[in-house]
Order: sequence, then structure tokens, then C-alpha cells
Amino acid sequence: MTGPESEGSLVRRAVCPGSFDPITNGHLDIIARASRLYDEVYVAVMINKSKKGLFEIDERIDLIRTVVADYGNVRVEAFHGLLVDFCKQRDIPAIVKGLRAVSDFDYELQMAQMNNGLSGVETLFVPTNPTYSFLSSSLVKEVAQWGGDVAHLVPPAVLEALNKRLNKG
Ligand code: PNS
Repeated sequence: MTGPESEGSLVRRAVCPGSFDPITNGHLDIIARASRLYDEVYVAVMINKSKKGLFEIDERIDLIRTVVADYGNVRVEAFHGLLVDFCKQRDIPAIVKGLRAVSDFDYELQMAQMNNGLSGVETLFVPTNPTYSFLSSSLVKEVAQWGGDVAHLVPPAVLEALNKRLNKG
């Protein structure tokens, strides 16, 4: 066989990896944009046994599945171990990451170069929507924990879960 068919799958796949404890509007913006660029997008939720999150892995996955329900080409899975192995097992050649600010860049560049060196997988950086350039799951949790309003920072299902978990409603 000649042409692109001989070089692997014609389905363009990408992965958006993260901890997603919980998913924020910033994450969702990147996933939505990736879903417009690729045929199939995997949201890979890292299992980190050494770090207890606010939400269990299954809860994070359920929340993500709820908020990406309108995107027909997005699937959500947990993973542990190396991201490049997740990619290899699913024939995914590209990682899509949001960059919020220059401060993200150093570590993201290291990971991108390491992942590329390990397996050839490429990392594509998407500039975060400026509306969310300050946003992180950690800050959302901290603000919500002390009664601050995060309704504009997370999808409604996540807000509800946060309120329940933090015993506010
Ligand atoms: O949302 P986070 O916590 O910033 O996501 C970090 C994540 C999951 C993308 C990163 O820690 C990762 O890829 N972990 C998987 C383990 C791995 O492959 N490590 C080598 C990276 S070079």
C-alpha cells in the first residue's frame, strides 16, 4: 500500500491529559477546541495513587463525561503510568495542552520533549482563552472551600458537585 494509508490510521486522534480534580471551564475550552481539530479526542484522567484528590477518579470521569456529552468525538478514560503508553495503545500521535502563561511553558516544554524522545508523540500547545488564563483546579477548590463564587469558572455539574462535597448545599 502506498500513500497515507500505509503510514498508520487515517483517523486523526489526540489526547488531552490531566488530573481534572475537577474539570474547569479552562480545561473544557481546550477539549472543545481539540474536538474541532481532531476526529477523535481522548480525555485521559491520570490516576495518581500518591495524591488524594477532592474527587475520586470515577467521580472526575463522570463529571467530565457529563460536561463533554455534547461533543460526539470525545471519550474519557483513566490512565496510570506513562502518557506515551496510553498514546501507543490507542494509536494517538498528538497530545494537546493548554498554555495559560509563560510560567506554564518551562515544565510543559520539558514534558513535551521527554514524551517526544520516549515515543515520537508530538505535543501541540493551544493558547488558553484569556478569560481562563488564571484558572486552575487548585484555585477553584481553594476559593470554593472558603465560600467564594466559582460559578463562572466551572460547568454547572461541577459547581453542584463542589458544593455537595464541600457541604454547602
Ligand atoms: O492536570 P495536571 O496534573 O497538570 O496533568 C499532568 C499530566 C497528567 C499531564 C502529567 O503529569 C502526565 O502526563 N503524567 C503521566 C505520567 C508521565 O507520562 N510522566 C512523564 C511526563 S514527561
